[in-house]
Amino acid sequence: MEGIYKTLPQHTCTWLQGRVTLYKYQGFWNAQNFPKKAILAQSYEAQPRDVLLCSCPKTGTTWLKALAFAIVTRKKLDEVGNSPLLTTLPHDCVPFLENHLEKIKENHSNFPILGTHLPYSSLPKSVIDSNCKIVYIYRNIKDVIVSYYHYIRELMKLSVEEAPFEEAFDEFCQGISSFGPYWEHILEYWKASQERPEVFLFMKYEDLKKDPTGNVKRLAEFLGHPFSIEEEKAGMVENIIQLCSFDTLSNLEVNKSGKYQADEHFALEHRLFFRKATDGDWENYFTEEMKDKIDKLIDEKMSATGLIL
Ligand code: A3P
Repeated sequence: MEGIYKTLPQHTCTWLQGRVTLYKYQGFWNAQNFPKKAILAQSYEAQPRDVLLCSCPKTGTTWLKALAFAIVTRKKLDEVGNSPLLTTLPHDCVPFLENHLEKIKENHSNFPILGTHLPYSSLPKSVIDSNCKIVYIYRNIKDVIVSYYHYIRELMKLSVEEAPFEEAFDEFCQGISSFGPYWEHILEYWKASQERPEVFLFMKYEDLKKDPTGNVKRLAEFLGHPFSIEEEKAGMVENIIQLCSFDTLSNLEVNKSGKYQADEHFALEHRLFFRKATDGDWENYFTEEMKDKIDKLIDEKMSATGLIL
């Protein structure tokens, strides 16, 4: 098992000064230790009541996890001011299947929501067999590229000058990014959702921003925890939106100074999950040529889906 990566296609990221090598495993690019993590995750025995929050990195995963957690735990808390989200990173409230399987198993009966970046084709078979509900979040590809660029760059402790954006962009367009190709990740989930629409909820980062109330209510219903009229009148939906907002979460001490243990070898600073959260930041980075290239690519890959990236 340890040596499986040696047999896989690999790519060393030049824009990261060769500090990162990605491997293509089961159709998607990832770090060297990923096959081991994926195989372990695939041993997970899902229950029908499990809900998976699925996404590619940098598409709003942290936000979605916070919202789902706040929605599902709201009745146990006297008020939003007691929420564990005020002292815990959302990724520790809703663990990743591929990172924290043991923790998920321990806590499973109390909290059946888990997160994953796994592509649809790599999900545990039990998730499909048990007809688990799946929430999939996606985001405008141009903003994902910029967000991904800064996230990995900071992870590797490189300055903007040391990490050329143009090269990062070209690599992303070739499909080489963590859990990329980004469009293939979306396409797999989208195709599955066409076959079993009743178990899927697709959410778009930009829509969640535009209409948080409508989308949070939709999410709550899908999770099986709809808001009552009394709760709505009491402002519960707005309270949850406020609690999970970028302003609130990014200013919490835990998210400014904590460290996330992605696995036994690897920890990263919580602050890296909270950067700017603005729509259209890509305009500060893309040339006209880059814009045309990505528009053409996305048109070619996604036009059949009706999804707008
Ligand atoms: P930017 O880098 O554009 O700022 P993920 O959670 O999938 O890793 O995505 C990270 C992106 O979501 C980052 O985008 C981050 O700033 C943004 N984000 C994090 N928390 C958020 C929140 N509560 N509301 C909106 N956006 C958030």
